[in-house]
Amino acid sequence: MIIAIDGEASTGKSTQAKKIAEKFNYNYRDSGAYYRAITLYLIQNNISSNSNINQNILDKIDVKQKYENKKLSIYLNDVDVSGKIRGYKVSTNVSNYAKKPEIRNLVYKQLRNSDRSNSLVIDGRDIGTVVFPDATFKFFLCADSKVRAERRHKEINDKAVKLELIEKEIKYRDNTDSTRKVAPLKKADDAYEIDVTLLTIDQVFKKILDKIDSK
Ligand code: DC
Repeated sequence: MIIAIDGEASTGKSTQAKKIAEKFNYNYRDSGAYYRAITLYLIQNNISSNSNINQNILDKIDVKQKYENKKLSIYLNDVDVSGKIRGYKVSTNVSNYAKKPEIRNLVYKQLRNSDRSNSLVIDGRDIGTVVFPDATFKFFLCADSKVRAERRHKEINDKAVKLELIEKEIKYRDNTDSTRKVAPLKKADDAYEIDVTLLTIDQVFKKILDKIDSK
């Protein structure tokens, strides 16, 4: 079984995906983390998102995800980059790299080759529309950008990081992700949409469980 959790940036997709994985003991993949790790590699190697990223370069990028004891770890060429990929530099650049078909194909291959001996929960932008259009359940999370920025701001818990800057970054990413030519961020026709603006994490989770139970 595959459960797709797509939606806008900072709507709590990975929080919900992990809760589902935990409750049912499923495996979990964070598709955004693949794009982030690839972006980190390309930035570190001074390869611009405007350049052609050929197979030679792609062959040098190995990203692995390990979900164990409720913790997701991301490895880039065997180095744990779980923290680094959430930084400002990667966050502000990832959408420009994620536009590129050669990068998307690399991620699709990884996601479709995920260990399927267990059911799988995956969060992202195009899981229900492109990567696994036959997913058993599809959810699409959205929310007011100000509320998303406030939640993220609280989470970062650093007064030096301005709320306005976070909101700007979220809006920029949503805009780039939803207007790109390949696999844009959009709700699948058969996805269940949840506006999380006024809901707590547990309220959103309950809606997801109710939907799964109703099938
Ligand atoms: O889920 P996230 O915020 O970590 O994702 C980071 C970026 O990766 C997101 O802004 C766009 C890209 N992405 C994508 O294009 N397709 C996905 N399925 C997941 C993420």
